[in-house]
Amino acid sequence: MGYMLEIQDVHKTFNAGTINEKVALNGVNLNLNPGDFVTIIGGNGAGKSTTLNAIAGVWSIDAGKIVIDGVDITKLSEHKRAAFLGRVFQDPMTGTAATMSIEENMAIAARRGQRRGLGWGITKKERESFKESLKTLDLGLEDRLSSKVGLLSGGQRQAITLLMASLKKPKLLLLDEHTAALDPKTAAKVLALSDKIISDHNLTAMMVTHNMKDAILHGNRLIMMHEGRVIYDVSGEEKKQLQVADLLKKFEEVSGGEFANDRMMLA
Ligand SMILES: Nc1ncnc2c1ncn2[C@@H]1O[C@H](COP(=O)(O)OP(=O)(O)OP(=O)(O)O)[C@@H](O)[C@H]1O
Ligand SMILES: [Mg+2]
Repeated sequence: MGYMLEIQDVHKTFNAGTINEKVALNGVNLNLNPGDFVTIIGGNGAGKSTTLNAIAGVWSIDAGKIVIDGVDITKLSEHKRAAFLGRVFQDPMTGTAATMSIEENMAIAARRGQRRGLGWGITKKERESFKESLKTLDLGLEDRLSSKVGLLSGGQRQAITLLMASLKKPKLLLLDEHTAALDPKTAAKVLALSDKIISDHNLTAMMVTHNMKDAILHGNRLIMMHEGRVIYDVSGEEKKQLQVADLLKKFEEVSGGEFANDRMMLA
C-alpha cells in the first residue's frame, strides 16, 4: 500500500525580499503510512503550524510537492483540499459556529462536499446519528442537540470539533495544539478522546503539541522540527522507550542551549 501523505522537499518563505523575510519551511520531507499517528514537537517558530498550513493549502508553497493518498494536491485550492482533511486548532472558538446549535454544526460537517447546505433542515435520521456519535463523547451533549454551541465550555467545543472533523472519515486529521487552551483536566479528556477517535476510525493523524510527555504518550511516531526541517523521526519500539530527557537532549543539541524560554521547555 502507498503512503497516505508524502511531503517532498517543501519550502516556504514569508515576506520574501523584505526586512521581515522569514524562511519558515526549509526542505521538509515526511512520509506517513495509512494509520500513522504522528506527534510533532519543536521550539517556537520551528515550522510546525506552517507544515500543517502547507498541507491544508492556506497559501501556496514556494517549492516541493504534497501528495495525499496518491493525489498530488500541491496546486489544489484550500477549499478542494478540505474534502480530504479534518482540522482542529488551538482556539476552541474557531472549529464551530457559536450562534448555531450543536445539530446544525454537525449537519454542516456531515454534509461537507454535498450540494445540500442546511436549507432542508435536519432529518430525523441525521438527528439520530448525531445523537449516537455525541454519546461516544460521554459529555451528556446528546441531550442538548438544539443548544447553541456558544454556550458550551472550551473543552466541549473542542470535543465537538473533533467529532465533526471525523464524521466523514478524513484522509488526514490535523491537530494543532488543540488542547493547549484548555485546563489540564479537560485537556487530558480531549486528548483521550482524540486517541479514541483516531483508533476507532483508523485515521492517519498529525498532532502538534508543546508537551513532550504527551508527544511520547500518544501516537506511534514522533517527529521534532527545527528551523523549518524535520530533524528527528522515531517510531515503534524506539518511540515507546523514549523519555522526556532524551527529547531535551536532542533539542539542546540542535538549538545550542538557547531554549530556556521555549514553551516546549516550560510545559
Ligand atoms: N502567515 C505568516 N506570515 C508571516 N510569517 C509567518 C506566517 N506564518 C508563520 N510565520 C513565521 O514562520 C515561522 C514558523 O512559524 P510556525 O507558526 O510554523 O511555528 P511553530 O513551530 O508552529 O511555533 P509555535 O510553537 O510558536 O506555534 C515563524 O517565524 C513565524 O513567525
Ligand atoms: Mg504553531
